[in-house]
Amino acid sequence: MNKEEFYKLLEQRRSIRKFKKEVPPKKVIERILGGAIQAPSGKNRQNWRFVVVSGEKRDQYLKYSQKSWLGIKDILQKRLKPSLYDFTERFFYTLGDAPYIIFAYSHNTPDERYHTSIGSVYMAVENLNLACLVEGLGCCTMGAPLEIKEEVDQFLGVTAWPEYQAGELELLCAIVIGYPDHEPPKAPRQMEGRIHWL
Ligand SMILES: Cc1cc2nc3c(=O)[nH]c(=O)nc-3n(C[C@H](O)[C@H](O)[C@H](O)COP(=O)(O)O)c2cc1C
Repeated sequence: MNKEEFYKLLEQRRSIRKFKKEVPPKKVIERILGGAIQAPSGKNRQNWRFVVVSGEKRDQYLKYSQKSWLGIKDILQKRLKPSLYDFTERFFYTLGDAPYIIFAYSHNTPDERYHTSIGSVYMAVENLNLACLVEGLGCCTMGAPLEIKEEVDQFLGVTAWPEYQAGELELLCAIVIGYPDHEPPKAPRQMEGRIHWL
């Protein structure tokens, strides 16, 4: 890949919220996770933890996704135009038929600053977003599950993990993944006020 192609890839990435029913092979999901963990992390602690959900478990998650919608719908109703609001509501009810959901957790330990731990996991999440793109997959990173964090932890069974019981495991987001079934317009970006040169 040359320089132009690399920047084009970054520009091309967009959140996908409608997927084909076809299920990507497990090998491809393993590969994108292999890409995710190439990310840098504070003290190289590799403190990301991923929980991959598909099949029946994925279907069971829909009722949690619907519940998470209730926590954010009022804010979105004020921010989105009605057609986009309706689309988003449908997305939360169906997750766009995405066959895979990957939940990203951070293992926060006292030997690292809290925000460094969180940031490290998000570095891996962005790698995962880009790996999806090169694999011909689409994805949408979702903070919405945080609305019902404890319920999601229970649902995934991470509450039995020793690091959870030590109060060190924190859900950060879910990434829904599948083959894209729409081509949304690029959400505009602004440089103004975002970058300060001294
Ligand atoms: C941390 C994080 C949380 C997000 N949470 C949600 C979400 O809960 N639901 C959703 O539909 N999109 C969610 N998004 C996607 C953003 O809405 C999207 O990235 C943004 O509008 C820019 O669009 P683009 O990704 O297509 O460039 C989230 C993105 C990030 C990085």
